[in-house]
Amino acid sequence: MSDMFVEANGAQIPMIGLGTWQSCDLDGYRAVLWSLEAGYRHIDTAARYGNEGPIGRALADSHLARDEYFVTTKVWHTDLADGALQQSAEQSLDRLGLDQVDLLLVHWPNADITLSETISALCDAKRQGLTRHIGVANFPSHLLHEAVVLSDEPIVANQCEYHPYLDQSAVLRACRQLDVALISYSPLGTGRLLQDPVLIAIAERYGKSVAQIILRWHAQQSLVAAIPKSMNRERIMQNIDIFDFSLDMNDMAIVSELRRASGRLIDPPWAPEWDYV
Ligand code: A2P
Repeated sequence: MSDMFVEANGAQIPMIGLGTWQSCDLDGYRAVLWSLEAGYRHIDTAARYGNEGPIGRALADSHLARDEYFVTTKVWHTDLADGALQQSAEQSLDRLGLDQVDLLLVHWPNADITLSETISALCDAKRQGLTRHIGVANFPSHLLHEAVVLSDEPIVANQCEYHPYLDQSAVLRACRQLDVALISYSPLGTGRLLQDPVLIAIAERYGKSVAQIILRWHAQQSLVAAIPKSMNRERIMQNIDIFDFSLDMNDMAIVSELRRASGRLIDPPWAPEWDYV
């Protein structure tokens, strides 16, 4: 089912992936197995999530060939120095039971470690074969430009919070200039958007769920992939079942117009200065 890809800087990234933040132990294991059964071929995790072990077991128990699925992990922002970054990636691979991930991301920028050191360590991790592709997460547009200039290897993705309440036009513009995929995390606004009356009305017109309308809105934007999170089997299936309809241009615009100044939901103390849009 997930035969739709985002192509960015030489990488093919399945358009819908499973987000796994806060899905630990048995919940994480089951969610990954259910998602693979439903046709997902993109699983997103991070060293910080503490769930690489169960996710690795689910990948093994799926009996899928390694080249059939795309796995992303991330290096936490305290581990971005040369040596520490590569070690974090190796530990992730041990926990996942994999020789290589498909995408290794810097989880958050860290102003206390120079970006040039971090990007060169990331490139080294790629050259060592720890990952097929490299990228970043939570990078505002100016840092994304800097990372691309500093990198000897293609930066293929910037994973960021993105949903209809959050205007990410500056990040999207930078991604498109640089041929970098924007991978939307919290694409459903951590579930908050599901009660929106405008979205409910559109969903009724299309005979789809609100989550499907939102994910379709992501999928119809160039260079955008999305990693909705669910621990429920039906909803996991529903979230990838979005390839048999499309939103017309007018409805795409109506959904985009839901953006608001207070739209950002994930803004921890270590976050960088975001783009002003
Ligand atoms: P659940 O795990 O019970 O399905 P986001 O990906 O934006 O962070 O949103 C995740 C939240 O949205 C979770 O609370 C999840 O709950 C809920 N969710 C995910 N998919 C759906 C869906 N198709 N319908 C309703 N709620 C959903």
